Amino acid sequence: MRVPFYDIKAQYDELQAEMDRVVHEVVSGGAYIMGPHHKAFEQECAELHQVKHAIAVNSGTDALRIIMDAAGIGPGDEVISTAFTFVASTETIVQTGATPVFVDIDPQTYCIDPDKIEAAITPRTKAIMPIHLFGQLSDVIRINEIAARHKLIVIEDAAQAFGCHFQGKPAGNFGVAAGFSFYVTKNLGACGDGGMIITNSDDIAESCRSLRIHGMGRERYYYDHVGYTSRLSELNAAFMQVKLKALGEWNERRARFAAIYADVLANTNLQLPVTRPGNNNTWHQYSIRSQSRDELQAFLKSKEVDSMIYYPVPLHFHEPYRRFGHGEGSLPETELAAQEILNLPIYPHLSEDQVRYAADCIHEFANNLVQA
Ligand SMILES: Cc1ncc(COP(=O)(O)O)c(C=O)c1O
Repeated sequence: MRVPFYDIKAQYDELQAEMDRVVHEVVSGGAYIMGPHHKAFEQECAELHQVKHAIAVNSGTDALRIIMDAAGIGPGDEVISTAFTFVASTETIVQTGATPVFVDIDPQTYCIDPDKIEAAITPRTKAIMPIHLFGQLSDVIRINEIAARHKLIVIEDAAQAFGCHFQGKPAGNFGVAAGFSFYVTKNLGACGDGGMIITNSDDIAESCRSLRIHGMGRERYYYDHVGYTSRLSELNAAFMQVKLKALGEWNERRARFAAIYADVLANTNLQLPVTRPGNNNTWHQYSIRSQSRDELQAFLKSKEVDSMIYYPVPLHFHEPYRRFGHGEGSLPETELAAQEILNLPIYPHLSEDQVRYAADCIHEFANNLVQA
Protein backbone atom coordinates (compact mmCIF):
# COMPACT_ATOMS: atom_id res chain seq x y z
CA MET A 1 0.00 0.00 0.00
CA ARG A 2 1.38 3.39 -0.99
CA VAL A 3 1.52 5.99 1.80
CA PRO A 4 2.63 9.39 0.48
CA PHE A 5 4.03 11.98 2.86
CA TYR A 6 1.52 14.66 1.75
CA ASP A 7 -1.58 14.99 -0.35
CA ILE A 8 -2.27 18.70 -0.59
CA LYS A 9 -4.70 18.49 -3.50
CA ALA A 10 -7.01 16.24 -1.46
CA GLN A 11 -7.85 19.31 0.64
CA TYR A 12 -9.08 21.06 -2.48
CA ASP A 13 -11.00 17.98 -3.56
CA GLU A 14 -12.85 17.92 -0.23
CA LEU A 15 -13.76 21.60 -0.37
CA GLN A 16 -13.96 22.06 -4.11
CA ALA A 17 -17.42 23.62 -4.44
CA GLU A 18 -16.74 26.31 -1.84
CA MET A 19 -13.18 26.92 -3.05
CA ASP A 20 -14.33 27.38 -6.63
CA ARG A 21 -17.10 29.72 -5.48
CA VAL A 22 -14.76 32.06 -3.56
CA VAL A 23 -12.08 32.02 -6.24
CA HIS A 24 -14.70 33.06 -8.78
CA GLU A 25 -16.04 35.68 -6.40
CA VAL A 26 -12.59 37.25 -5.92
CA VAL A 27 -11.52 37.08 -9.54
CA SER A 28 -14.79 38.52 -10.83
CA GLY A 29 -15.00 41.04 -7.98
CA GLY A 30 -11.76 42.81 -8.92
CA ALA A 31 -10.48 43.52 -5.37
CA TYR A 32 -7.23 41.56 -5.50
CA ILE A 33 -5.23 43.17 -2.72
CA MET A 34 -6.34 43.80 0.86
CA GLY A 35 -10.00 43.40 0.04
CA PRO A 36 -12.89 42.11 2.18
CA HIS A 37 -11.59 38.53 2.51
CA HIS A 38 -8.18 39.76 3.66
CA LYS A 39 -9.82 41.83 6.37
CA ALA A 40 -12.24 39.11 7.41
CA PHE A 41 -9.51 36.44 7.53
CA GLU A 42 -7.38 38.68 9.76
CA GLN A 43 -10.36 39.14 12.05
CA GLU A 44 -11.00 35.38 12.21
CA CYS A 45 -7.36 34.68 13.08
CA ALA A 46 -7.37 37.35 15.80
CA GLU A 47 -10.55 35.94 17.33
CA LEU A 48 -9.31 32.36 17.20
CA HIS A 49 -6.11 33.31 19.04
CA GLN A 50 -7.84 35.79 21.38
CA VAL A 51 -5.57 38.69 20.42
CA LYS A 52 -6.29 42.29 19.49
CA HIS A 53 -4.52 42.34 16.15
CA ALA A 54 -3.85 40.02 13.22
CA ILE A 55 -1.84 41.30 10.26
CA ALA A 56 -1.73 39.13 7.16
CA VAL A 57 1.58 39.01 5.31
CA ASN A 58 3.17 37.12 2.46
CA SER A 59 4.91 34.34 4.42
CA GLY A 60 5.85 33.11 7.87
CA THR A 61 9.39 34.32 7.22
CA ASP A 62 8.12 37.84 6.48
CA ALA A 63 6.02 37.68 9.64
CA LEU A 64 9.13 37.06 11.76
CA ARG A 65 11.21 39.65 9.92
CA ILE A 66 8.53 42.33 10.22
CA ILE A 67 7.91 41.58 13.91
CA MET A 68 11.62 41.94 14.64
CA ASP A 69 11.82 45.26 12.83
CA ALA A 70 8.72 46.47 14.66
CA ALA A 71 10.25 45.37 17.98
CA GLY A 72 13.41 47.34 17.21
CA ILE A 73 15.81 44.41 16.94
CA GLY A 74 18.97 45.31 15.04
CA PRO A 75 22.75 45.43 14.97
CA GLY A 76 24.39 44.79 18.33
CA ASP A 77 21.44 42.81 19.69
CA GLU A 78 21.46 39.11 20.44
CA VAL A 79 18.40 36.91 19.97
CA ILE A 80 18.24 33.52 21.67
CA SER A 81 16.75 30.71 19.62
CA THR A 82 17.33 27.11 18.52
CA ALA A 83 19.21 25.41 15.69
CA PHE A 84 16.87 22.42 15.33
CA THR A 85 14.33 24.07 13.08
CA PHE A 86 13.62 25.51 9.66
CA VAL A 87 16.08 28.23 8.73
CA ALA A 88 13.65 31.19 8.76
CA SER A 89 14.09 32.23 12.40
CA THR A 90 17.88 32.37 12.26
CA GLU A 91 17.85 33.82 8.77
CA THR A 92 15.64 36.73 9.75
CA ILE A 93 17.59 37.41 12.95
CA VAL A 94 20.76 37.68 10.86
CA GLN A 95 18.99 39.88 8.29
CA THR A 96 18.18 42.46 10.98
CA GLY A 97 21.90 42.70 11.81
CA ALA A 98 21.39 41.01 15.18
CA THR A 99 23.24 37.86 16.28
CA PRO A 100 21.43 34.53 16.75
CA VAL A 101 22.47 32.71 19.91
CA PHE A 102 21.68 29.00 19.78
CA VAL A 103 20.41 27.18 22.85
CA ASP A 104 19.95 23.42 22.91
CA ILE A 105 16.55 21.74 22.70
CA ASP A 106 14.50 19.61 25.02
CA PRO A 107 15.05 16.12 23.51
CA GLN A 108 11.42 15.15 24.05
CA THR A 109 9.60 18.12 22.52
CA TYR A 110 12.38 19.51 20.27
CA CYS A 111 11.54 23.02 21.50
CA ILE A 112 14.05 25.23 23.36
CA ASP A 113 15.21 23.81 26.70
CA PRO A 114 14.31 26.51 29.25
CA ASP A 115 16.96 25.19 31.67
CA LYS A 116 19.65 26.26 29.23
CA ILE A 117 18.42 29.75 28.38
CA GLU A 118 19.86 31.76 31.26
CA ALA A 119 23.44 30.65 30.58
CA ALA A 120 23.10 32.15 27.10
CA ILE A 121 21.93 35.60 28.26
CA THR A 122 24.45 38.46 27.97
CA PRO A 123 24.09 42.25 28.34
CA ARG A 124 23.35 42.30 24.58
CA THR A 125 20.47 39.87 24.69
CA LYS A 126 17.30 41.57 23.55
CA ALA A 127 14.89 38.77 22.78
CA ILE A 128 14.09 35.09 23.07
CA MET A 129 12.49 33.49 20.05
CA PRO A 130 11.03 30.10 20.97
CA ILE A 131 10.13 27.93 18.00
CA HIS A 132 6.88 26.09 18.69
CA LEU A 133 7.80 22.95 16.81
CA PHE A 134 5.69 20.20 15.25
CA GLY A 135 2.31 21.39 16.55
CA GLN A 136 2.76 22.29 20.20
CA LEU A 137 3.92 25.29 22.18
CA SER A 138 7.34 25.56 23.80
CA ASP A 139 7.53 25.83 27.60
CA VAL A 140 6.05 29.31 27.38
CA ILE A 141 5.56 29.82 31.11
CA ARG A 142 9.21 29.17 31.99
CA ILE A 143 10.38 31.20 28.98
CA ASN A 144 8.22 34.15 30.02
CA GLU A 145 9.51 33.98 33.61
CA ILE A 146 13.11 34.11 32.37
CA ALA A 147 12.30 36.92 29.92
CA ALA A 148 10.63 38.97 32.66
CA ARG A 149 13.56 38.44 35.06
CA HIS A 150 16.04 39.68 32.45
CA LYS A 151 13.79 42.30 30.81
CA LEU A 152 13.82 40.55 27.43
CA ILE A 153 11.09 40.42 24.86
CA VAL A 154 9.68 37.14 23.56
CA ILE A 155 8.82 36.66 19.89
CA GLU A 156 7.01 33.43 19.13
CA ASP A 157 7.91 31.54 15.97
CA ALA A 158 4.48 29.96 15.73
CA ALA A 159 4.86 29.01 12.06
CA GLN A 160 3.90 25.42 12.93
CA ALA A 161 1.56 26.27 15.79
CA PHE A 162 -1.61 27.80 14.33
CA GLY A 163 -4.39 26.94 16.79
CA CYS A 164 -2.03 25.71 19.52
CA HIS A 165 -2.57 26.73 23.12
CA PHE A 166 -1.27 26.17 26.62
CA GLN A 167 -3.98 25.66 29.23
CA GLY A 168 -6.43 27.22 26.80
CA LYS A 169 -4.32 30.34 26.18
CA PRO A 170 -3.49 30.44 22.46
CA ALA A 171 -0.14 31.00 20.73
CA GLY A 172 0.54 34.69 20.31
CA ASN A 173 -0.32 35.50 23.93
CA PHE A 174 3.10 34.61 25.31
CA GLY A 175 5.24 37.29 23.72
CA VAL A 176 5.11 40.69 22.04
CA ALA A 177 3.95 38.98 18.86
CA ALA A 178 3.82 35.66 17.03
CA GLY A 179 4.30 34.73 13.38
CA PHE A 180 2.34 31.98 11.64
CA SER A 181 3.16 30.36 8.31
CA PHE A 182 0.56 29.26 5.78
CA TYR A 183 3.09 27.45 3.64
CA VAL A 184 1.24 24.76 1.67
CA THR A 185 2.13 21.86 3.96
CA LYS A 186 1.10 23.57 7.20
CA ASN A 187 -2.10 22.45 8.97
CA LEU A 188 -3.67 25.57 7.46
CA GLY A 189 -1.90 25.99 4.14
CA ALA A 190 -2.31 28.61 1.45
CA CYS A 191 -2.41 28.12 -2.28
CA GLY A 192 1.22 29.26 -2.32
CA ASP A 193 2.86 31.31 0.42
CA GLY A 194 1.19 33.18 3.24
CA GLY A 195 1.73 34.27 6.81
CA MET A 196 0.13 36.11 9.72
CA ILE A 197 1.39 38.26 12.56
CA ILE A 198 -0.68 38.34 15.73
CA THR A 199 -0.14 40.61 18.70
CA ASN A 200 -1.85 42.32 21.60
CA SER A 201 0.37 45.38 21.28
CA ASP A 202 -1.16 48.38 19.51
CA ASP A 203 2.31 49.80 18.79
CA ILE A 204 3.72 46.61 17.31
CA ALA A 205 0.56 46.15 15.25
CA GLU A 206 0.74 49.66 13.86
CA SER A 207 4.39 49.25 12.87
CA CYS A 208 3.75 45.82 11.32
CA ARG A 209 0.81 47.14 9.28
CA SER A 210 3.02 49.91 7.99
CA LEU A 211 6.07 47.71 7.37
CA ARG A 212 4.11 45.25 5.19
CA ILE A 213 3.33 48.06 2.74
CA HIS A 214 6.71 49.74 2.31
CA GLY A 215 6.59 51.49 5.68
CA MET A 216 3.71 53.65 4.53
CA GLY A 217 2.16 55.78 7.25
CA ARG A 218 -1.46 56.68 7.72
CA GLU A 219 -1.38 58.71 4.53
CA ARG A 220 -0.74 57.23 1.13
CA TYR A 221 2.80 57.79 -0.19
CA TYR A 222 4.15 59.09 3.11
CA TYR A 223 6.66 56.69 4.67
CA ASP A 224 7.51 56.15 8.34
CA HIS A 225 9.79 53.11 7.98
CA VAL A 226 11.93 51.31 5.44
CA GLY A 227 9.47 48.53 4.75
CA TYR A 228 8.58 45.55 2.60
CA THR A 229 6.07 44.41 -0.01
CA SER A 230 4.37 41.71 2.01
CA ARG A 231 0.66 41.51 1.58
CA LEU A 232 -1.34 38.32 1.56
CA SER A 233 -3.23 38.09 -1.73
CA GLU A 234 -6.99 38.40 -1.59
CA LEU A 235 -7.32 35.05 -3.36
CA ASN A 236 -5.30 33.36 -0.67
CA ALA A 237 -7.23 35.05 2.12
CA ALA A 238 -10.48 33.77 0.61
CA PHE A 239 -9.00 30.33 0.04
CA MET A 240 -7.88 30.07 3.66
CA GLN A 241 -11.17 31.30 5.04
CA VAL A 242 -12.70 28.23 3.43
CA LYS A 243 -10.00 25.95 4.81
CA LEU A 244 -10.20 27.49 8.27
CA LYS A 245 -13.76 26.19 8.59
CA ALA A 246 -12.45 22.65 8.03
CA LEU A 247 -9.37 22.97 10.22
CA GLY A 248 -10.96 21.72 13.46
CA GLU A 249 -12.14 18.52 11.80
CA TRP A 250 -8.84 18.12 9.97
CA ASN A 251 -6.86 18.46 13.19
CA GLU A 252 -9.14 15.87 14.82
CA ARG A 253 -8.26 13.44 12.05
CA ARG A 254 -4.57 14.15 12.64
CA ALA A 255 -5.10 13.40 16.35
CA ARG A 256 -6.83 10.08 15.50
CA PHE A 257 -3.89 9.10 13.30
CA ALA A 258 -1.40 10.11 16.01
CA ALA A 259 -3.30 7.86 18.43
CA ILE A 260 -3.03 4.93 15.98
CA TYR A 261 0.73 5.42 15.65
CA ALA A 262 1.06 5.68 19.44
CA ASP A 263 -1.00 2.53 19.96
CA VAL A 264 0.80 0.35 17.42
CA LEU A 265 4.29 1.58 18.34
CA ALA A 266 3.79 1.63 22.12
CA ASN A 267 5.88 -1.44 22.89
CA THR A 268 8.78 -0.74 20.59
CA ASN A 269 12.07 0.87 21.56
CA LEU A 270 11.31 3.90 19.38
CA GLN A 271 10.96 7.28 21.05
CA LEU A 272 7.43 8.53 20.37
CA PRO A 273 6.30 12.17 20.48
CA VAL A 274 5.76 13.71 23.91
CA THR A 275 3.09 16.37 24.39
CA ARG A 276 3.86 18.70 27.30
CA PRO A 277 1.10 18.73 29.96
CA GLY A 278 -1.20 21.70 29.36
CA ASN A 279 -0.52 21.79 25.60
CA ASN A 280 -2.93 20.77 22.91
CA ASN A 281 -1.08 19.10 20.06
CA THR A 282 -2.25 19.88 16.54
CA TRP A 283 0.07 17.20 15.15
CA HIS A 284 1.73 19.25 12.48
CA GLN A 285 4.30 16.44 12.48
CA TYR A 286 4.46 12.99 14.00
CA SER A 287 8.14 12.45 14.85
CA ILE A 288 9.71 9.27 16.10
CA ARG A 289 13.32 8.63 16.99
CA SER A 290 15.51 5.62 16.33
CA GLN A 291 19.23 4.98 16.49
CA SER A 292 18.70 3.05 13.26
CA ARG A 293 16.83 5.92 11.61
CA ASP A 294 18.43 5.64 8.16
CA GLU A 295 17.81 1.88 7.99
CA LEU A 296 14.23 2.43 9.14
CA GLN A 297 13.68 5.05 6.46
CA ALA A 298 15.09 2.73 3.78
CA PHE A 299 12.89 -0.13 5.05
CA LEU A 300 9.81 2.11 4.88
CA LYS A 301 10.73 3.18 1.38
CA SER A 302 10.86 -0.49 0.33
CA LYS A 303 7.32 -0.80 1.70
CA GLU A 304 6.15 2.34 -0.20
CA VAL A 305 5.76 4.36 3.00
CA ASP A 306 7.18 7.87 2.64
CA SER A 307 8.90 9.63 5.52
CA MET A 308 10.90 12.83 5.94
CA ILE A 309 13.70 14.04 8.16
CA TYR A 310 12.95 17.32 9.91
CA TYR A 311 15.68 18.49 10.36
CA PRO A 312 18.69 16.62 8.97
CA VAL A 313 21.33 19.30 9.54
CA PRO A 314 21.27 21.68 12.53
CA LEU A 315 21.51 25.35 11.60
CA HIS A 316 24.91 25.87 13.24
CA PHE A 317 26.41 23.41 10.70
CA HIS A 318 25.32 25.39 7.63
CA GLU A 319 27.89 27.64 6.00
CA PRO A 320 26.10 31.03 6.43
CA TYR A 321 25.38 30.34 10.12
CA ARG A 322 28.50 28.44 11.20
CA ARG A 323 30.05 31.62 12.59
CA PHE A 324 27.17 31.94 15.09
CA GLY A 325 27.67 28.42 16.47
CA HIS A 326 30.36 26.76 18.50
CA GLY A 327 31.02 23.74 16.31
CA GLU A 328 30.23 20.07 16.58
CA GLY A 329 29.25 18.91 20.04
CA SER A 330 28.13 22.38 21.19
CA LEU A 331 24.41 21.52 20.95
CA PRO A 332 24.37 17.80 21.81
CA GLU A 333 20.59 17.27 21.93
CA THR A 334 20.10 19.20 18.69
CA GLU A 335 22.80 17.20 16.95
CA LEU A 336 21.52 13.84 18.22
CA ALA A 337 17.93 14.65 17.25
CA ALA A 338 19.09 15.47 13.72
CA GLN A 339 20.64 11.98 13.51
CA GLU A 340 17.70 10.08 14.97
CA ILE A 341 14.47 11.81 14.05
CA LEU A 342 12.05 10.55 11.43
CA ASN A 343 8.77 12.22 10.52
CA LEU A 344 5.88 10.01 9.50
CA PRO A 345 2.96 10.79 7.20
CA ILE A 346 0.23 12.61 9.14
CA TYR A 347 -2.37 14.69 7.33
CA PRO A 348 -6.14 14.74 7.25
CA HIS A 349 -6.60 12.92 3.97
CA LEU A 350 -4.79 9.73 4.88
CA SER A 351 -7.02 6.74 5.47
CA GLU A 352 -6.91 4.82 8.75
CA ASP A 353 -5.75 1.81 6.72
CA GLN A 354 -2.78 3.76 5.40
CA VAL A 355 -1.80 4.88 8.90
CA ARG A 356 -2.15 1.35 10.30
CA TYR A 357 -0.11 -0.04 7.43
CA ALA A 358 2.67 2.57 7.99
CA ALA A 359 2.61 1.88 11.75
CA ASP A 360 2.70 -1.92 11.18
CA CYS A 361 5.72 -1.56 8.89
CA ILE A 362 7.56 0.46 11.54
CA HIS A 363 6.57 -2.08 14.17
CA GLU A 364 7.89 -4.89 11.99
CA PHE A 365 11.21 -3.06 11.56
CA ALA A 366 11.53 -2.41 15.29
CA ASN A 367 10.76 -6.07 16.10
CA ASN A 368 13.29 -7.37 13.59
CA LEU A 369 15.91 -5.09 15.13
CA VAL A 370 15.25 -6.45 18.62
CA GLN A 371 15.47 -10.06 17.39
CA ALA A 372 18.65 -9.51 15.33
C1 LIG B 1 9.42 26.78 12.35
C2 LIG B 1 9.24 27.60 11.10
N1 LIG B 1 9.51 28.92 11.15
C3 LIG B 1 9.34 29.71 10.08
C4 LIG B 1 8.89 29.23 8.87
C5 LIG B 1 8.78 30.12 7.69
O1 LIG B 1 7.52 30.15 7.12
P1 LIG B 1 7.32 30.39 5.54
O2 LIG B 1 7.76 29.16 4.82
O3 LIG B 1 5.85 30.64 5.41
O4 LIG B 1 8.12 31.58 5.17
C6 LIG B 1 8.57 27.86 8.79
C7 LIG B 1 8.06 27.31 7.53
O5 LIG B 1 8.15 26.47 6.88
C8 LIG B 1 8.75 27.02 9.92
O6 LIG B 1 8.47 25.71 9.87
